[in-house]
Amino acid sequence: MSDADLVHELKRQSAVAAADLIEDGMVVGLGTGSTAALFVEELGQRVRDGLQIVGIPTSKATEAQALSLGISLVSFETHPVIDLTVDGADEVERGTLNLIKGLGGALLREKIVAASSRRMVVVADDRKIVDHLGEHVLLPVEVVPFGWESTAHRLGQMGARVEPRHGRDGKLFVTDGGNLTLDCSFGVVTDPAALEERLKLITGVVDSGLFINRADEAIIAGRDGVIRLTKS
Ligand code: A5P
Repeated sequence: MSDADLVHELKRQSAVAAADLIEDGMVVGLGTGSTAALFVEELGQRVRDGLQIVGIPTSKATEAQALSLGISLVSFETHPVIDLTVDGADEVERGTLNLIKGLGGALLREKIVAASSRRMVVVADDRKIVDHLGEHVLLPVEVVPFGWESTAHRLGQMGARVEPRHGRDGKLFVTDGGNLTLDCSFGVVTDPAALEERLKLITGVVDSGLFINRADEAIIAGRDGVIRLTKS
């Protein structure tokens, strides 16, 4: 099996284990990214087999996938509280289950869905586990388009290296919410809650990819099997 096939299989195992948590009658938050997509695929299969749930998607891409699989979608207007959200992550901090999310470009909707959820479960392969956030990936920060260069400058003054994200077409990447993403290197983040607080005070910043105290459980698949991590 190639490395890519192995990673795909691990993501699938994590996604299937998360699908086992879904029960009839639940309002389910549907994450974004390749691992969450495998969860949505599995959920679609179970809906076809009779499982009765409704979903709230975290992106237009997930919305399209869920609808194509026959999963009924609802909105916050009728369902302001979600029972369980299953979403991927770019890094999962061992012990705290704090996360970096947003490499897939959907962090704002993901964060709103997570904040509205009674329970959030992360699905990932074991490459995502880190001792400290920022070890492997940049921190995405969603900003409003107006004056983004100034917002980027102020993020730089906080000590970050800041790169505006571009799409495949070479243009600035625009999120589902019509915003831009700045990928920031703050190095290893030793106090994510403090960094989150500072970022949220910057005018022009909509939100950051730091998910502090949001995840209740992480279902992590590795070569030796699937483990379930909770906060220590
Ligand atoms: C989407 O914006 C992200 O937060 C994804 O959840 C994250 O990038 C994980 O994606 P993969 O499962 O594709 O690694």
